[in-house]
Amino acid sequence: MNEPDHYTDRALDHLTRSRNAGTLSGPSGTGADANPSCGDRTTITVAISDGHVQEVRFRTFGCTAAIASASVLTELAAGLAVEEAARLEPADILNALGGLPPRKEACALMAIGALRGALVDARVRATA
Ligand code: FES
Repeated sequence: MNEPDHYTDRALDHLTRSRNAGTLSGPSGTGADANPSCGDRTTITVAISDGHVQEVRFRTFGCTAAIASASVLTELAAGLAVEEAARLEPADILNALGGLPPRKEACALMAIGALRGALVDARVRATA
């Protein structure tokens, strides 16, 4: 894996032109995760129907890596079957961004945690 010591053009593009930023109204599920080392936080809302992630939105209060990670993760997750979306990993984010500076790779975890939380919340709500 390419391990840049700077942000790639793809990562900076997701920072300056973030995809799917915001919050869905009436989502199927909501998840949030925080990085305890810095206090940054990401919330993800999902709309699910027919077993697929139809829409995803993110809201991040955090660093460049956290914002770029959440933005690209919404693109990766949209359209996937719920089971496939739940299997997305930080490595998928790093691949999609062309890497992150090594000291910032842990920031991608937060987006994954928020997405998985939203998918679990949606499953709980659907069976309630
Ligand atoms: S420094 Fe806090 S998530 Fe990146």
